Amino acid sequence: MEPSVSLHDLRAVYDPEMHVAMLRDGSRHRFYGQCLLMHPELKGQVAIDVGAGTGIMSAMAVLQGKLGKVHAVEALPEVCRLIPRVLEATLEPEDRDKVEVHCGFVEEVLDKQPNGWPQHVQLIISEWLGIMGLNEGMVRPLLHCRDAFDPKPHMLPGLLRIWVQPCEGDGRCGPAVIRSEQLRGTPQLVLEADLNTCSLEDLFVTCTVQLGASGLVGWFDLQCCAEHQLVLSTSPHAAATHWAQCWLPFGERLDGAARLRLRLAPQSTGLPELCVELTPPPGAPLRGMRFFLDRGVVERFGGEDGEDAQGGAKRRRTEDIEARYFPSDIAELLSLAKAAVRDV
Ligand SMILES: C[S@@+](CC[C@H](N)C(=O)[O-])C[C@H]1O[C@@H](n2cnc3c(N)ncnc32)[C@H](O)[C@@H]1O
Repeated sequence: MEPSVSLHDLRAVYDPEMHVAMLRDGSRHRFYGQCLLMHPELKGQVAIDVGAGTGIMSAMAVLQGKLGKVHAVEALPEVCRLIPRVLEATLEPEDRDKVEVHCGFVEEVLDKQPNGWPQHVQLIISEWLGIMGLNEGMVRPLLHCRDAFDPKPHMLPGLLRIWVQPCEGDGRCGPAVIRSEQLRGTPQLVLEADLNTCSLEDLFVTCTVQLGASGLVGWFDLQCCAEHQLVLSTSPHAAATHWAQCWLPFGERLDGAARLRLRLAPQSTGLPELCVELTPPPGAPLRGMRFFLDRGVVERFGGEDGEDAQGGAKRRRTEDIEARYFPSDIAELLSLAKAAVRDV
């Protein structure tokens, strides 16, 4: 399968600052580390870390999961070069060889089957999540990798849930920290998917939601697996994570029911973005709205004034050169990685 994005698209998101933000997210590491501890049957088995980044999940798969071999696959060469440094900072010398780095898009690595590439894999560990879970579209290569193996490997995390709730707020569409007092109504489940079995199409659902405020807030939960109830919640009530929540502003108070649809929208530069589309029921005086979560654009459609859009034009790096990791960036990443594996 051809990768659906380029290195250029990945660099628009995954720069040194983003990797630092991810490595600062203690809730994230505690969740992945504790999930691994809940699966002692994986001891000595083979794993793939899809989108390994700096290699933190690969290190935890060896340290907490006691996996025998971890294939760390990362597309960006400048990030791949950090992985041995992170392994050196987090693992004992005898464990470092348990992680093998494959630099490339996972789609291409699966096609090329490089030397040492496994025919059987018991675990896929991956932190592939964007805003409201599905932003950035990394779930596509993730499920492609899962389906390349027979039997399918166990997925960590195993379950994904996406929620919305009516909410008051201001500011443009996109990531926001929402306080409890802004919330109205109750949380509404938009999607519940078992990543061990779902198809890509299963994730992009349509459902009915109740409005009742000047916007919606969206977030996601991850659950370790069906058997283990451990959850990483990114809800407004949970401990802060680097994802925060996602604010979807209407620009006015709206009430009643609406159809909510999730879909992935390609971008000319950057990763595919999650589009949340709200359509009022037939006969309702509301206009429809599309929220594009990466650019922060809100499009209104179906009213007397036709289509209009607000927000957008997020600043993007346009150069197609490797991001530069300065020694101070690397020192910070290594110290955060050490703390992350100790903190489980
Ligand atoms: C959300 S980050 C997670 C990084 C790391 N696993 C962590 O937890 O800190 C996703 C990583 O996947 C990489 N990536 C995205 N799509 C990929 C693909 N198709 N193949 C390989 N790597 C990919 C990105 O470059 C990025 O480093």
